[in-house]
Amino acid sequence: MPALLEVEELRVRFETHHGTVRAVDGVSLELAAGETVGLVGESGSGKSVTSLALIGMIPVPPGVVEAKRIAFDGRDLLALAPDELRRIRGNEISMIFQDPMTSLNPFLTVGRQLSEVLEVHKGRDRREAWRDSARGLGDVGIPNPERCLDSFPHELSGGMRQRVMIAMALLCEPKILLADEPTTALDVTIQAQILELLKELQRRYGTAIILVTHALGVVAGMANRVYVMYAGRIVESAATGALFARPHHPYTEGLLRCLPTLRGDGAARLAAIDGQPPDLAALPPGCAFRPRCGYAIPRCEAEVPPLTPATLAAHAAEANARRSACFSSAALAAGAPAGAEMGRA
Ligand SMILES: Nc1ncnc2c1ncn2[C@@H]1O[C@H](COP(=O)(O)OP(=O)(O)OP(=O)(O)O)[C@@H](O)[C@H]1O
Ligand code: SF4
Ligand SMILES: [Mg+2]
Repeated sequence: MPALLEVEELRVRFETHHGTVRAVDGVSLELAAGETVGLVGESGSGKSVTSLALIGMIPVPPGVVEAKRIAFDGRDLLALAPDELRRIRGNEISMIFQDPMTSLNPFLTVGRQLSEVLEVHKGRDRREAWRDSARGLGDVGIPNPERCLDSFPHELSGGMRQRVMIAMALLCEPKILLADEPTTALDVTIQAQILELLKELQRRYGTAIILVTHALGVVAGMANRVYVMYAGRIVESAATGALFARPHHPYTEGLLRCLPTLRGDGAARLAAIDGQPPDLAALPPGCAFRPRCGYAIPRCEAEVPPLTPATLAAHAAEANARRSACFSSAALAAGAPAGAEMGRA
């Protein structure tokens, strides 16, 4: 199936007083129609900047955005005039922003905000737009849509606000939904409800989703494939099941170890990866993960590992979907423990 979205070597840098921050450094990804992919990584790894760059929402300056290609549904997004891109944004590609206040205006009622989307993008008149907005709120499980339309965002609970944002993002039945941490601010029960809701709406409308999250657990039941980001790069990509069964990158292995597990006494235990993410304005030479890596070998200090397909015969069938950027990937794929590499640095 041809990809609905193809991104080749996206780069975003910010010129700041502290130097050049390379927030996204050569990210390539693909999304097929109706598919869900996860974009996962720690805070500051470049997930939001990647999503915002796809819809032309990086502030320039201080940002500089470059890419070899961003193709959406047969169109080259980089070649579009700003007003053509604006027509696609919120209509064919829409986004649930990490910061709710980027989506919702605190001074306007929910009804005004939703109906305006339909008036601008679909040319509906006010009455039709109001009626379809109420239907959209009903679709996301809001019990009294009419009352919600008359409310201001601060009058709603966090879970309701998140539902309103999902309704707004899906009003125009987009082909792609960029969902940036759609459940992070919510408690666990509501998180599960919102993820179920996204799945159901995807089934109904066939929307493809890029699910952006720092929590690998969130993508487990949602995504067909996962891209793992570290320091502005994709360091591993794989089908979700294969990634969880055996990570090929030490960072992914670390993220998996951080999934909450239940102790014998029933309490949740949350591990963290040792060390800090690197300063994107002053990356060390070689592999950016090296200072935190238990598999490092001398080569890691001198060369940046490229993202390459899986090589082990056992993984040949996955090779196209499975890539990792690590000189010790073969050892991980074979199940070697950390520190087992010869000449460990
Ligand atoms: N406008 C900006 N000016 C300067 N630096 C920026 C700007 N926007 C983002 N950055 C930097 O780009 C890097 C990537 O940020 P991004 O918001 O994409 O991280 P993230 O992976 O979404 O993290 P989080 O999980 O915390 O949301 C960070 O170092 C951030 O400080
Ligand atoms: S083994 Fe080397 S290349 Fe792989 S993640 Fe560790 S430091 Fe990077
Ligand atoms: Mg973010």
